[in-house]
Amino acid sequence: MDTHSLVAIDDLNRHEILDLLDRASYFEKNPNSHLLDGKVVATLFFEPSTRTRLSFETAVNRLGGRVIGFSDASTSSTSKGETLKDTIKMVSNYADLIVMRHFLEGAARYATEVTQVPIVNAGDGANQHPSQTLLDLYSIRKTQGRLEGLTITMVGDLKYGRTVHSLVMAMRHFKPVFNFVSSRELAMPQEYLDLCDELGIEYHVYTDFSPEVINSSDILYMTRVQRERFSDIMEYERVKDLYTLRNDMLADSKPTLRILHPLPRVNEINIDVDDNPKAYYFEQAHNGLFARQAIITACLGINPEK
Ligand code: CP
Repeated sequence: MDTHSLVAIDDLNRHEILDLLDRASYFEKNPNSHLLDGKVVATLFFEPSTRTRLSFETAVNRLGGRVIGFSDASTSSTSKGETLKDTIKMVSNYADLIVMRHFLEGAARYATEVTQVPIVNAGDGANQHPSQTLLDLYSIRKTQGRLEGLTITMVGDLKYGRTVHSLVMAMRHFKPVFNFVSSRELAMPQEYLDLCDELGIEYHVYTDFSPEVINSSDILYMTRVQRERFSDIMEYERVKDLYTLRNDMLADSKPTLRILHPLPRVNEINIDVDDNPKAYYFEQAHNGLFARQAIITACLGINPEK
């Protein structure tokens, strides 16, 4: 990956994904340096975040750079009616790289069209969350020792959950078997099923979160039902608690199974799972720091090992 933006995981080929994961491994061993001395990174969060924003900002701080930005767009001139285009053009005067989260699908792509400054998409509506995907891949490879040939079970909100969309796009390079477990209303969008069909990727669609599905899995990827994407709150109430993982459901799962969740969780994973060695979601979030150090340096064209 040369100096440029990261908007969607499908902008990266297999080789570029693996390069970024190797770079993240380097940063896990060497998290502190002066690689970003003199650089300013802007974090523009038009939607709430804990992990993504703080891990990006920690990544910059640990590499010696400086951070500007906002975590609440109501404190920016957006609240006075400034357009996204003008905001991006203004911030481009001040920063070497812009990390942005926006509620509109395509907002990050649009931003790349109005500035020469690299843009990192930190989530655009229900569309994509590529930095989350890189930390997910990093976590999968670290816990399973490989990315090839794994059975990945995605559970919950597969319609609005942007992390599962990005993960499907990334894992297509690594011959996965997918289990998609959701209610019919929150099913994986047809375009992703069509992609699997085109590429000959095996997948199974379930409404039942059965022991057979759990026990066949290498990775259980639990997701939150995305309340903020529902126009009808009654519909959200009806589907929000359909799938909850409890510790007793893991009794016959593979010893190497790991449970991932992009977080935040609401009711999808009972807290009695947290002490099970197969629970990996807090370590997964920690891996986000190294994945984001890899992305920032790659987008800025900085080679960490020189
Ligand atoms: N996983 C994730 O995007 O978390 P935040 O919304 O807290 O950034």
